[in-house]
Amino acid sequence: MNEVMFTLSNVSYQYPHGQTALQNITLSIKRNKKIAVLGNNGAGKSTLFFLLNGLLKPTSGTIYFCGHPLSYNKKAIQKLRKAVGIVLQDSDSQLFMPTVFEDICYGLYHVGINGKEIEKLVQQAMIETDTYHLKDRSIHSLSIGEKKRVAIAGILAINPEMFILDEPTAGLDPYYSKKMIELLNNIHLQGKTIILSTHDIELAYEWADEMIVLHKGKIVLQGSPFTVFKEEDTIQSCHLDLPWMYVLQKLVSPLDEASSKNLNKKQLIQQLKNAISNKTCRK
Ligand SMILES: Nc1ncnc2c1ncn2[C@@H]1O[C@H](COP(=O)(O)OP(=O)(O)OP(=O)(O)O)[C@@H](O)[C@H]1O
Ligand SMILES: [Mg+2]
Repeated sequence: MNEVMFTLSNVSYQYPHGQTALQNITLSIKRNKKIAVLGNNGAGKSTLFFLLNGLLKPTSGTIYFCGHPLSYNKKAIQKLRKAVGIVLQDSDSQLFMPTVFEDICYGLYHVGINGKEIEKLVQQAMIETDTYHLKDRSIHSLSIGEKKRVAIAGILAINPEMFILDEPTAGLDPYYSKKMIELLNNIHLQGKTIILSTHDIELAYEWADEMIVLHKGKIVLQGSPFTVFKEEDTIQSCHLDLPWMYVLQKLVSPLDEASSKNLNKKQLIQQLKNAISNKTCRK
């Protein structure tokens, strides 16, 4: 099995009569990683995701999927979409069938899955995203957060190898944001690759194995959350902030890669408690 899912070699994209949204992107996306893409509004995150899913074609440069240059004929795109599912930033651009059930089914038909299997896959995806009760509802009547969960159910039902999620927690309340991350972690445990964009730096710091920071269509930082946020000046110049977990950890212990890797809130609180009790003991 190819360890590298995507390789982008000097990829640029300019919208017709518009902005150069991405410039000379060179990047590898390895299998079974959890990758967070950060960047301010207009940095090029959505454009990058459109390119990975074949919704857009590079103006220059080449995208390789599992070692082969992407083809854009109908059959190749159908194959790509079965392997790489995308949840768009704007759910209204993704959902268009009359009802929730029909919409989730449509994605499966589209990638060539037919027959009895469909109902089972749709039902399972609705259960996992807590959308079963919305089954017969009209898409137009759903709230923003409900639409997002239905869009995710549509991709989940296809069971792709890689999930691309453009701001998956935007519009979700804290309960469903947490559920979403749990769902993504479960998907990851099944061996899937996940790349998401977010403006939530706390989420990126705690969740990601790897981060990519885009600014004005270029990759400015890439690496583990630790190595990325360590570049504090670059982070600020990209209009981003430092996660409070990173800032707090810097206060309690000297930063080193090993101690900050996959640090979650619980571990950080424990470190804080240890630091406080060490201080008390020394007095
Ligand atoms: N359809 C389009 N036509 C022309 N320019 C576009 C189009 N879509 C996006 N752009 C431009 O391309 C650049 C990158 O946009 P993109 O949507 O990829 O940014 P983003 O990082 O996803 O931003 P956001 O955080 O606001 O979602 C921006 O300058 C944007 O104005
Ligand atoms: Mg976007």
